[in-house]
Amino acid sequence: MCGIIGITGQSTVTERLVDGLKRLEYRGYDSSGIAVINGTGLKRARAEGKIKALERTLDMTPLDGHIGIAHTRWATHGVPNETNAHPHFYGRVGVVHNGIIENFLELRNSLPGHKFQTETDTEVVAHLIEDSLNRGLSPKDAFEDTLKKLKGAYAFGVIIDGVDDQIFCARAGSPLAIGIGEDEMYLGSDAMALAQLTNKLIYLEEGDWAIISPKDAQIFDREGASVTREETIITGGLAMAEKGNYRHFMLKEIYEQPETVGRTLANYVDEFNLTANLPEGLDFSKFDRIIIIACGTAYYSGVVAKYWFEQLANIAVDVDIASEFRYREPVISENSLFIAVSQSGETADTLAALRYCQSKGVTTAALVNVMTSTMAREADIALPINAGPEIGVASTKAFTSQLTALASIALSAMKSRKNISRDAEIRLANALIKTPRKIKEALELDPQIEQIAFELSKSRSAFYLGRGMQVPIAYEGALKLKEISYIHAEGYAAGELKHGPIALIEDGTPVIVLAPYDNLFEKTISNLQEVASRGARIILITDEIGAKSTGSMASEMIVVPSTDSFVAPIITTIAIQLLAYHTAVHLGTDVDQPRNLAKSVTVE
Ligand code: F6R
Repeated sequence: MCGIIGITGQSTVTERLVDGLKRLEYRGYDSSGIAVINGTGLKRARAEGKIKALERTLDMTPLDGHIGIAHTRWATHGVPNETNAHPHFYGRVGVVHNGIIENFLELRNSLPGHKFQTETDTEVVAHLIEDSLNRGLSPKDAFEDTLKKLKGAYAFGVIIDGVDDQIFCARAGSPLAIGIGEDEMYLGSDAMALAQLTNKLIYLEEGDWAIISPKDAQIFDREGASVTREETIITGGLAMAEKGNYRHFMLKEIYEQPETVGRTLANYVDEFNLTANLPEGLDFSKFDRIIIIACGTAYYSGVVAKYWFEQLANIAVDVDIASEFRYREPVISENSLFIAVSQSGETADTLAALRYCQSKGVTTAALVNVMTSTMAREADIALPINAGPEIGVASTKAFTSQLTALASIALSAMKSRKNISRDAEIRLANALIKTPRKIKEALELDPQIEQIAFELSKSRSAFYLGRGMQVPIAYEGALKLKEISYIHAEGYAAGELKHGPIALIEDGTPVIVLAPYDNLFEKTISNLQEVASRGARIILITDEIGAKSTGSMASEMIVVPSTDSFVAPIITTIAIQLLAYHTAVHLGTDVDQPRNLAKSVTVE
């Protein structure tokens, strides 16, 4: 997490750095800061909280120069206050950092006599460079010497007073790109950060470091050998999304879903021939297992996909949380297909899992929203979801597009493994094609859901229950509620509740039951009865047929449009998203940037 940006150029940099930080705010918003070198040396402005706070600081104490670095922070080491905000200074050196220096305590102890101002892992880097300069090393050697001492993950931007037109930068484990301008050079965590400045980028590779000056970028590999890295021209899609008339990005993104799911389908389903297109490079007949790895919401899309691939294509699927998978030494056969699911394409643990599988010789695919991301570039096959920029920290439209893409790919797998009749294919393709319209109908439930949310917002905790493909949607419903309303919530397989958690049900405990009319409907309704009879307040999310069959067991009923049960998880998702959104709005939380979170989790 954390976002970094730097400019070395011909004109003043502050305003452009702040604009870049706003584009990077999704990577963290605990604090922000910028540092410049001007005629009077190294200067900085920092502020706790969001970029707006930094802008206020800069209004009061303007700061400018032709070279500068900037940072937006998601705190790892040290509380999110101004002292711990980047850039960190020591002597002549200013540093911004994304990642974690794991051996920072050891390094601090190796510098007797140095006084540290912050609790961060980053500050030691400024000390190490200054120490090397004091030992007579050139700035280039001091930077390289310091990199060699570091363990952990990093993307750095470093400026040194006295070296007034060069930025030193490096990447290992955290993404970093160099931007090329007209007599200017930039560095940024991603293409989005630099979109206002240039579309010409050089992505640094693992272990690379570089020195950029207005007319030049010298790049070196881990061993210090000079290397050339390919230039990439970024085309389209990086405009800063606008909220339009919506109160929050999250609501806008919820409402965009008929369109975004339609865009995903356009890539994977041939609506005229009612068939799923097999993505290029994927031959399911040669795989005997699929490994889906992801984190958070993206992981839940993988759990739904397990049902699709196993039931439709008769292929075994392992789904795992990336942070667990990577350290478990999993047994992986070469005939496996690895699929990383990630909106950002940068999540550190998911990326590490992808690299691990690549090292085992497994075919890797990355199902991502950001096609300029590291995962899209490193996987053998990049599978786009085409949801467009997702700004709300709580993922909504990316999730339904992940589901849609995975359902379509499962359908194509079914076809290529000859596990399907043409009639079944037509039925399932039809169900997919109708999804955008069904989502639109589900969005019409918004006013009713807003009212239900008002009651929910008075609760301290809630349960979400489902069976089959609705289990991961129950998990996702609970996650959405937790992360934006701060109400404690748990998602459970409906049949599992009586094995312990039912003890938590009291009079009035809200239980959101996901039960569209499918082969598990009656079983879910029995579980509903079990909690209702213990006083739970039931909010039933079902479809038209389910509503007719349930009577009046629920306190509230949200009736989504009926669909083929194949795509039902996509439709019930709309209801749980709106429920979480309105609950958070009733509580007055910061819906788009909830506390403690960041959109892109680039540390493990
Ligand atoms: C929750 C949410 C997170 C992400 C997770 C993975 O609303 O957004 O749980 O899904 O951090 O992020 P990506 O998909 O970028 O790998």
